[in-house]
Amino acid sequence: MPSRGLILAIESSCDETAAAVVQRGSHTLSSVVASQIATHARYGGVVPELASREHLRAIVPVVRAALAQADITLTGLDAIAVTSGPGLAGALLVGITYAKALAFATGLPLIAVNHLEGHIHAVLLNEREVESAKSQVSEARPGAPSDDDPALALVVSGGHTHLYLARPAAGTWHYTLVGRTLDDAAGEAYDKVAKLLGLGYPGGPWIDALAQYGNPHAVPFAFSQIKTKLHLAGRAPRTKAAKTAPIANLDPHFLFSFSGIKTAVLRYVELHNLRPEAETRREALMTRPDAPPRPTIEDALATCSQPTLDLIASFQHAVAGDLMKKTFAAAESLGARRILVTGGVAANRELRARFSAEAARRGLGISFPTLALSTDNAAMIAAAAWPRLLTGEFAQPDLSADPSMALGC
Ligand code: KG4
Ligand code: ZN
Repeated sequence: MPSRGLILAIESSCDETAAAVVQRGSHTLSSVVASQIATHARYGGVVPELASREHLRAIVPVVRAALAQADITLTGLDAIAVTSGPGLAGALLVGITYAKALAFATGLPLIAVNHLEGHIHAVLLNEREVESAKSQVSEARPGAPSDDDPALALVVSGGHTHLYLARPAAGTWHYTLVGRTLDDAAGEAYDKVAKLLGLGYPGGPWIDALAQYGNPHAVPFAFSQIKTKLHLAGRAPRTKAAKTAPIANLDPHFLFSFSGIKTAVLRYVELHNLRPEAETRREALMTRPDAPPRPTIEDALATCSQPTLDLIASFQHAVAGDLMKKTFAAAESLGARRILVTGGVAANRELRARFSAEAARRGLGISFPTLALSTDNAAMIAAAAWPRLLTGEFAQPDLSADPSMALGC
């Protein structure tokens, strides 16, 4: 049994270099995130080679900062955890190589964590921290969903839109894949639409902020029902982002597709001649690392016509509505009484408000991570590693990156 239950976790799967020290999967001592947004912003998306280079630069200072903030040295730890997939191969390898070296040098066990499971544990970590922060133990409402109930987890980020049934089992968790996107992830759609409209990278926070100034019903975007034949034929997913899980045997009602709405936005922009405005905006908002300050929402708002704001609000309304419809349908069909929503897109205000209202209407439990725990971080990786430390499920010395690692069965 680990003495203090202290895990140092490292996360480098995409464009954030992160390290955290978490005690017993429920108490964050430190969480440090070095974002590469400024590096990738001028390209409008993550450039894998640049991501690896930036991770190499950041990993040592980020881990040092996490240990210093937790006021601990390597010898005081019980394990090292690291994200081993899914993600960018070169980026993952930086974290894995460094974690392996630390484990080898200290003799500490190494725990490999699936990034998607990390996102689910971000919610659980947050729930435990909120619970322990309450001065008195709150009495559970009779019939209210509890921690032992299966949860329907929506992981919605720049790389993933996956639905899992998560079941607590003998101190650990079992996951069953219930649904996922056939093409783009929801966050990817946000980023591509934002790029098309001349907004910065990542696009989610810009669209989130600007949507409140538009009419969400102005453009009636529709998601067509995904045909059964498509997935039953066992066809390969169309994009890299969709490769993290097989699609056979999934109920088509719980499958997502976000490439169509991206094309519909493009068509709307052409038809309503909004492209010149987008080009002006791109120029006005261009991030110049040598010339701060960075552009603000007010700067963006000043460049947006009402039709553009209406388009942004309608896009967001449609995406949030589609995520909501399928998530609640899956929860109902599988008898899940609580819903966990996590990943970068879970930071979205409209999504949080609508999911919360629908959960209340149906009498279901709903949880989100804090905004800091919604996007990539290492505290969630440490939290997911904790049950593995208890059960002694350690990585082998030849651990390598698994860029298309799936979660569950
Ligand atoms: O979880 P995350 O940090 O990285 C991945 O694992 O992909 O998610 C990043 C994604 C980006 O696509 C970003 O545009 C989106 O999350 N995002 C948001 C918001 N904040 C970040 N999307 C919608 N609304 C937001 N407030
Ligand atoms: Zn992520």
